Amino acid sequence: MAIVFDEERQVFSLHTENTTYQMKVDGYHYLLHLYYGKKTAASMDYMITYFDRGFSGNPYDAGADRTYSLDVLPQEFPVLGTGDYRNVACKVREENGCYGCDLRYRRHEIREGKYSIPGLPSAHSSKGQTLEIVLGDERLGLEVTLLYGVMEDCDMIARSVRVENCGKEKVYLEKISSACLDFIYGQYDMLTFYGRHAMERNFQRTRVSHGRQSVGSIRGSSSHQYNPFVILARPDATERQGECYGFSFVYSGNFSGEVEMDQFDQTRFVMGISQEQFSYPLEEGESFHAPEVLLSYSAEGLGRLSNQFHRCVRDHVCRGKYKNQVRPVLVNSWEACYFDFDGDAIVRLAEQAADLGIELVVLDDGWFGRRNDDNTSLGDWQVNEEKLGCSLGELSRRIHDQGVDFGIWIEPEMVSEDSDLYREHPDWAMQIPCKEPVRARNQLVLDFANPVVVQHIFEKISAVLRQGEINYVKWDMNRNLADVFSANVEEQGKVLYDYMLGVYRLLDQLTGEFPDILWEGCAGGGGRFDMGMLYYTPQIWCSDNTDAIDRIRIQYGTSFGYPLSAIGSHVSAVPNHQTGRVTDIATRGVTAMTGAFGYELDLGKLGEDEREKIKQQIASYHRLAPLIQQGDYYRISNPYEEEYGAWMVVDQDKSNALLSVVLLNIHGNMPVIYVRLDGLDEEREYRDADTGKVYSGAALMEAGMPIPLGLGDYQAFQILFEVVE
Ligand code: GLA
Repeated sequence: MAIVFDEERQVFSLHTENTTYQMKVDGYHYLLHLYYGKKTAASMDYMITYFDRGFSGNPYDAGADRTYSLDVLPQEFPVLGTGDYRNVACKVREENGCYGCDLRYRRHEIREGKYSIPGLPSAHSSKGQTLEIVLGDERLGLEVTLLYGVMEDCDMIARSVRVENCGKEKVYLEKISSACLDFIYGQYDMLTFYGRHAMERNFQRTRVSHGRQSVGSIRGSSSHQYNPFVILARPDATERQGECYGFSFVYSGNFSGEVEMDQFDQTRFVMGISQEQFSYPLEEGESFHAPEVLLSYSAEGLGRLSNQFHRCVRDHVCRGKYKNQVRPVLVNSWEACYFDFDGDAIVRLAEQAADLGIELVVLDDGWFGRRNDDNTSLGDWQVNEEKLGCSLGELSRRIHDQGVDFGIWIEPEMVSEDSDLYREHPDWAMQIPCKEPVRARNQLVLDFANPVVVQHIFEKISAVLRQGEINYVKWDMNRNLADVFSANVEEQGKVLYDYMLGVYRLLDQLTGEFPDILWEGCAGGGGRFDMGMLYYTPQIWCSDNTDAIDRIRIQYGTSFGYPLSAIGSHVSAVPNHQTGRVTDIATRGVTAMTGAFGYELDLGKLGEDEREKIKQQIASYHRLAPLIQQGDYYRISNPYEEEYGAWMVVDQDKSNALLSVVLLNIHGNMPVIYVRLDGLDEEREYRDADTGKVYSGAALMEAGMPIPLGLGDYQAFQILFEVVE
């Protein structure tokens, strides 16, 4: 049994293959957190201590017992107003402005199958189990249900919360986190992934110290700036050893991941929707569903933790036909020709693509309305037949005639002021009455908190997708929300959350209506790279930065929480359009192959030599793709500290392993670079598929192997090791 309730001790234990999570209902019916770590059958309730602590209050029913204080005890779901002055998971405001919610255990239920959340993405697992613990506040008539979904196979525990107002009075949720984790002692590092447009998910590791540290987004999307994935690791944890905890928010809007070390050196981590501009009213009978947080623990370092998340994304987050399929190699028109194309140019691209072995041509921005630059036409989802010189159906047919599939770009959540849609429905754009809106990329955001708007966009886009055989769609989002206002909603504190429900409804409707389409997420590259999007789109364009060297760092950071199958990654032209850097086609190939692979350049401008190399690259990708997309991933170097990027993928039975190395710097009279491999079987021998040389698995991992040195910037190496039978 994955979920066990010890009636006598009132202890819940959630077991995965290698981990245990424990909590307890105590004598006052508070739900205390006991333990999260290595699998154990022991009951950890003996770890709770009670002391009289000055200036830490006591619940009324503790009577004269001053040793019982919620300010000190580890809790599952701490609420503001109970004498816990630390960072809480939940704040409930009564209409008169009071915060006095007091949640006590009422009942629980254990059932087969992993829960799902109405209207929101969440991990799925038919083999999983669910625990629902209902807490209640008598006075307010509030019921708060904590949901725990246990997925044993990938050591993952999912958490979510449902709040129901069973009382008469209206209340406001001012904060509703999805998960809280209390550590009663110990030092931790916080690992976060910060960035900016075109340089997302940089790696940062800092010591958790007294006070609060947090990452989050108030941009209406999970953002380029901070990813909703956070790790807490023991200071001695490395890639290969040590304890660490990962938290991934299955949501694509505003979020907050907060850590606090308190007066007794205890650490609390809280993750959920951001409090900013959030105030959700609940009338009698109404409920609220908080999005999900996925939690995982590894006793064996960060590498293992990442692989647990990778497996979870591949098997339990992504859905649909493509989730475990090798994705087609594509060419995207954006960096090939931007807005400057007609139908013939796209057919030519398809013809050149077919010749190289590319399987899919994506027509990016610019095919609709009068969109010849980025100032116009968003919202007008009508094919610009004049520009294409034919209908979309005709274009799709001509492209398929070349033997390649066809995909298009959309940006459904946006509207240009210069569009028929805006001229007809200015109130469908998010704008605060009597205030001029903030523009970004000269566009406004549609009010997706209004179901009528979402339905209109669904009809328009699905009509386009029915005009021809469309095999792929890239779903973009190129600005953040600023004027958060819905003409359709009375209480504006709902809008940011309702907006996300609208986005998910549209994703659900479109992916449901067109199950054969491969959907790729995008938000100016990696501005919405999160588990929420991955539930609908099995891959996401990782960054608008296609520079192979910057990508080493971007993909390194991304790999902590997300599998390679999710990382859209393309070879582009040199000098690179974002950095001006020149790298060899081999280097660009090795970097881009570490993901859902493609090209993004004018194929017509390639020299004969480059064309040959690309043909070889694609052939080799076809051989390696199952390993890359399904294998276990190992970070071999930290490109922030070392002068090379190195990483590996190893298949499940450890018989094939691919090592990739890219030098980030070259110097005169270079010291030799030795890389220590990971994930191999130390008892077996491996053959370098290129040179035929045989090495011992143990030697490659313990001693390493020298990387050949040549002259020139950014040399790249890719070595396939095959087990010697
Ligand atoms: C965003 C995307 C790009 C491209 C452009 C088109 O920036 O990330 O890949 O699609 O929009 O406008």
